[in-house]
Amino acid sequence: MSDSEDDDMPQLSAHTLVALQEFYAEQKQHTDTSGDEKYNIGVIEENWQLSQFWYSQETALRLAKEVLAAAGEGGRIACVSAPSVYQKLRELHRDDFSIYIFEYDRRFAIYEEEFIFYDYNNPLDLPEKIATHSFDIVVADPPYLSEECLRKTSETIKYLTRGKILLCTGAVMEEEAAKLLGVKMCKFIPKHTRTLANEFRCYVNYESGLDHDV
Ligand SMILES: C[S@@+](CC[C@H](N)C(=O)[O-])C[C@H]1O[C@@H](n2cnc3c(N)ncnc32)[C@H](O)[C@@H]1O
Repeated sequence: MSDSEDDDMPQLSAHTLVALQEFYAEQKQHTDTSGDEKYNIGVIEENWQLSQFWYSQETALRLAKEVLAAAGEGGRIACVSAPSVYQKLRELHRDDFSIYIFEYDRRFAIYEEEFIFYDYNNPLDLPEKIATHSFDIVVADPPYLSEECLRKTSETIKYLTRGKILLCTGAVMEEEAAKLLGVKMCKFIPKHTRTLANEFRCYVNYESGLDHDV
């Protein structure tokens, strides 16, 4: 018979405890950044369980520039499930636009008032401060290559945008994307930091720079 309730509790071995402490220290190091560093792509590591595949630096920059050009001077930009575009835009040190990052992963709450928790399963469950049709452009990269995920994310996109849409998703979603959002595939091919099994493409519903070589 044990002396106290604590004796009945499962105990972690010293080795497991050390590993756990190291894990938390590493997590803290990755998210406890200040200044410019916090906008580095990769400062928040990919979590494959959340279907996170970050763009390469070049792709993030190309998309950021495209979004800036499309939004225009003083434009409002919504990044929906596309955190690298948000990070790249903020890294550019420009103050001639406003932006929100709509994300499911709460680690991105380091971006404070610009972070909006977003779950595509509840596509219109957004805070009051996010008015309908209040963004000059919405850039979105839904987490899954399924009709359901694209359909629900499209509800959000259509709620947010004043017109312009830049969607990044699998080449296999071309038909669904055209049906749901009226977007067309661009020539530009986005690249990721890792090689993915699926071919990815960008789609727009306006005359974009992604159909021209830079
Ligand atoms: C395919 S990744 C797109 C990331 C993009 N390539 C980038 O580099 O910014 C999908 C994104 O959807 C987010 N996500 C995962 N589950 C989600 C959910 N239930 N609702 C909305 N977004 C989700 C992930 O955290 C991730 O940022």
